[in-house]
Amino acid sequence: MRMYDIIAKKRDGGTLTREELAFAVNGYVAGDVPDYQMSALLMAIYLRGMTDAETAELTDVMARSGDMVDLSAIQGIKVDKHSTGGVGDKTTLVIAPIVAACDVKIAKMSGRGLGHTGGTIDKMEAVPGTRTSLTQEEFFKQVNEIGISVIGQSGHIAVADKKMYALRDVTATVGCIPLIASSIMSKKLAAGSDAILLDVTMGDGAFMKDLESAVELARQMVAIGTAHGRKVAAMITDMDKPLGRNIGNSLEVAESMAVLRGNGPEDLTEVCLQLATNMLMLAGKGGESECRAMAKQVIADGSAFETCCKMFAAQGGDISVLQDASKFQKAKYSYELTAPQTGYICKNDVEKIGNASVLLGAGRITKEDTIDFAAGITMHKKLGDYVKAGESICTFYADEEALFAAAEEMYRSGLVIGPEKPALPPLIYARVTADGVEQLNVN
Ligand code: URA
Repeated sequence: MRMYDIIAKKRDGGTLTREELAFAVNGYVAGDVPDYQMSALLMAIYLRGMTDAETAELTDVMARSGDMVDLSAIQGIKVDKHSTGGVGDKTTLVIAPIVAACDVKIAKMSGRGLGHTGGTIDKMEAVPGTRTSLTQEEFFKQVNEIGISVIGQSGHIAVADKKMYALRDVTATVGCIPLIASSIMSKKLAAGSDAILLDVTMGDGAFMKDLESAVELARQMVAIGTAHGRKVAAMITDMDKPLGRNIGNSLEVAESMAVLRGNGPEDLTEVCLQLATNMLMLAGKGGESECRAMAKQVIADGSAFETCCKMFAAQGGDISVLQDASKFQKAKYSYELTAPQTGYICKNDVEKIGNASVLLGAGRITKEDTIDFAAGITMHKKLGDYVKAGESICTFYADEEALFAAAEEMYRSGLVIGPEKPALPPLIYARVTADGVEQLNVN
């Protein structure tokens, strides 16, 4: 078999066999297939697409390129969740404890933020002392004892994806549905949970900019998981505005704790309830209304917040900051970004909001960058809100005053204020399962 022929077959619109995909992927991981040939294959896939069966085979080959975690030492059904990324997306910190408080095990690996999107592991590390790297023994023991652990993804999971994603990033081949689906699902299959809820974000702050492509990505990921014997569902959620009002690691942890204590922002609370409900349904805890009632109950009785505190404490975190957000270390400086005119916020580009927070120090542009946990943005006015000239739209937080100018320019470049209130997108558009697509339009 030759890599040249595999590239040519895909270039000409052919369907690759498992053997051909394994030859390319395993050869690339082993260093036998050079970057330039893998780049050519990725571009051919980008342009020609893949059949569902081909994508499922590619995913399986990628998953098996590293460790396949066996969670059978943990009793009960294990449910995982994955978001395709967003700004202010702190749902894992809320829904994982809710689901665990409802007696469903969470043995979850999460990622770090890169570019304009945040990551759960960075947020967890904003809680002083928190360890996000546990041995497998510690991880299993914690999940068996308290029902939940969230740790950083091990470098041995889906090794091929790590290498292929880095190549896609520099060859303009990231935005390809079968490649995104296989990248995400290879990691989820390798991570070992029985059921997986996918949060497919859609909007200007997400990979998927329209409903059709979001549904197609969801459909392909659900098909891959189902073909591998996992229970999978996907929710298409809005990313035309950040979730909640806070962007930045400590700020987002504080906001997540507010949701767990029953006094968080409405949009974030509703999205978290929907996602938690669907995770509980996948775990076989009942129908939709029953599962939603369970999720609400563990917020109301404090057990979800308590579960969250137990998880952080077990991983070495100082839970006093969860109980009292004023104990988080504060940024040295703050800055109010004011409205230049009176009117409605008609556009507030989410990617630009995310990039502004990165410029303040809340995220990283390269993997090596360090994060300022206290940096970030609190939004006082969001898409659709009315604002008066001179009124504060948001507060910036940073450790250096010099960072505000570039962040302000970035934020303002995506901001439009006009006389008409814009139509607001729903919070949740649809649910995709192996049975099909269900329009939800939850506001
Ligand atoms: N997230 C991933 O893990 N992979 C992709 O290809 C895109 C988003």
